[in-house]
Amino acid sequence: MQSKGLRSAKRWLVGSLAIALLTALSCRLRLNFTTATLLYLIVVVLMSVTEDLASSIFVSGIAVVCLTYIAPPSDSFRVQDPSDVVAIVAFFIVSLVTIGLMHRVQKLANEAVGSVRRQLVEIEERQRRRIARDLYDDICQRLTLVVVRLQGLNRSSSTAFREIAELSEQTSKLATDVQVLAHELYFAKLEYLGLAASMRNFCREFSRQREVEIEFRNNNVPSPLPPRVSACLFRILQEALHNCAKHSGVRHFGVELRATPYALHLTVHDSGFGFDPEEKLKSGGLGLLSMQERMKLANGKLYIDSQVKRGTTVHASVPLNSLNGLRPARP
Ligand SMILES: Nc1ncnc2c1ncn2[C@@H]1O[C@H](COP(=O)(O)OP(=O)(O)OP(=O)(O)O)[C@@H](O)[C@H]1O
Ligand SMILES: [Mg+2]
Repeated sequence: MQSKGLRSAKRWLVGSLAIALLTALSCRLRLNFTTATLLYLIVVVLMSVTEDLASSIFVSGIAVVCLTYIAPPSDSFRVQDPSDVVAIVAFFIVSLVTIGLMHRVQKLANEAVGSVRRQLVEIEERQRRRIARDLYDDICQRLTLVVVRLQGLNRSSSTAFREIAELSEQTSKLATDVQVLAHELYFAKLEYLGLAASMRNFCREFSRQREVEIEFRNNNVPSPLPPRVSACLFRILQEALHNCAKHSGVRHFGVELRATPYALHLTVHDSGFGFDPEEKLKSGGLGLLSMQERMKLANGKLYIDSQVKRGTTVHASVPLNSLNGLRPARP
């Protein structure tokens, strides 16, 4: 995924180019001061839509310089005129106010979206817990009862014996599958086993179920972790491994959970097909999006490093600070 710095640099460049072009246009078409000012203002407003406060202010600064020295054709604008100086100052103030307002509106909109997402994730967790409980308490028990009754049936004829044996084998396999599904939906052990042991268990279970190999390593993981952080990283692991098994085309994956003094890092790696994360985030399924949202909820960061035919590494990191209810570990 493109880094924040690179995106920001791109915005600064595009904004400066737009102002340079406008300046050239103003000179060539001999636009008057008012028209040039309005055109600059449009660029500043467009820049502030990109949510980058610094680049918007930078662009409006350049616009002021251009207005003062370059843009106005010499015959229509004289900076010696005090009223023009007032106009330039007014332009700068209007630009800054517009940028500030846009920034605030965007912040409020992002907060609203964030809170809806948070609620959605919480609802999803509650639903998962409910379905898992129903599966455990009801469906699994009933299936076990069927197996017991099948085993107690009359096995006098050899055909009946074979059929009953087959049916009870299928039913107990079904019961195991339902149990695994319930486990995945809500991993109740997470709370008392801790994150590292739960992840190890999950990897073992997953590799058995999906017939893949997973190399799990963990290092220095503090315990206990706040439930919110554990649940979030656990779900990232589940989704990343499902994606590896479903899309990578290879059967060997690596998982690492390690803590540094200031953060907890989870990486899930495969050497498979790879993909374009930017594109798939927009057009793919729900998995990548939900990973991203969960990381936001834990104040963490998600990086997906993937190259076609070279494989994929999903890296999730959560800071160990008071924000997440944890003090940094001792180095
Ligand atoms: N490890 C991977 N290797 C190759 N391609 C991947 C990998 N992970 C994700 N992808 C690509 O990114 C797309 C989006 O993934 P995402 O998890 O969002 O959706 P999905 O797995 O298709 O569906 P779901 O909503 O069930 O998770 C996938 O369809 C796949 O093309
Ligand atoms: Mg997926």
